[in-house]
Amino acid sequence: MRDVVKINEVGPRDGLQSQGRTLSLEQRLHMIEVLLQAGIRAVEMGSFVSPRAVPQMAGTGELFARLPMRNEVDYSALVPNLKGYQLACEAGVGSVAVVLSATETMNQRNINMSLAQATEIGAELMQRARADGLNARAYVAVAFECPFEGVTPPAVVHELTQRMLDAGADTVIIADTIGAANPAGVQRVLQPLAPWCQADRISCHFHDTRGMALANVLAALQCGVREFDSSIGGLGGCPFSPGATGNLATEDLVLMLDAMGYRTGIDPLALVAAVHQVQQLTGGQLGGHSFRWLERQWHKQQEARNV
Ligand code: COA
Ligand code: ZN
Repeated sequence: MRDVVKINEVGPRDGLQSQGRTLSLEQRLHMIEVLLQAGIRAVEMGSFVSPRAVPQMAGTGELFARLPMRNEVDYSALVPNLKGYQLACEAGVGSVAVVLSATETMNQRNINMSLAQATEIGAELMQRARADGLNARAYVAVAFECPFEGVTPPAVVHELTQRMLDAGADTVIIADTIGAANPAGVQRVLQPLAPWCQADRISCHFHDTRGMALANVLAALQCGVREFDSSIGGLGGCPFSPGATGNLATEDLVLMLDAMGYRTGIDPLALVAAVHQVQQLTGGQLGGHSFRWLERQWHKQQEARNV
């Protein structure tokens, strides 16, 4: 059997949170429907954060109530604190992701907590999620470089990862929030994790700011990682990290994995229509490195079908 790689689409959260245009709930719902039509089956659908801090994510509970295919799709939501966790539980979300940054300044800027507080609360929420029967996920953000503090020591990332796993996290997501990682750095962070935690409890989240996201995926695959975040058309950024541009584009990730023989359950050509439709919703130019090529293949396929 071919090796399976899980793709978690974060466009509806990481992608939309940094857009100048705030989408309505109908538009956010439509975006998720478009992604499902393209075969995506794991979606970070929003976040339960302060609407003053991130107005683009207001109404995530209401959005969750309207989502289709809830038994077949692995929907998750980001929660920064206990209040967010409670709101997610009230909405009935089955999978929550806490966001812990590896540096002091990033935690302060992102969630107004010290590193120590963020770690405490992250661990407490992982414990609660486990006890409440939820899927428990933890981001370790700025895991390679912080826009405020520079290069992140791998030992800090290892310590935070272990802390979250010990507290009950099902998955820890090692996140290159500003897209500053390179494949050698990815291996430096991931290789030492292998002896004490199974690679199947690790996921990676790469931004493509410097065009190295796919190379970083390859480095992570070589360390045994089989789960990745990506965002349709490369939509994204982070409102609290200067210089962070789009995420790794889902179509680039799917195309590379498919070509390498991994099974993602997603047809790369089916993503073309999704990119077009999300582009209409967000109003900005979208598309990863492979998008023009994929678009040409898609047109050929359409023509062949119409003959
Ligand atoms: N969801 C909705 N509202 C929340 C909330 C949550 N998770 N947490 C706090 N609030 C509300 C409080 O009820 C309070 O409202 P009030 O002023 O009407 O009484 C207000 O926000 C301030 O609460 P406080 O606990 O003092 O929060 P804060 O001002 O220290 O902000 C966060 C902390 C975490 C809420 C805020 O920084 C945040 O939402 N950050 C999100 C960051 C993010 O999404 N980053 C991108 C993802 S990596
Ligand atoms: Zn991100």
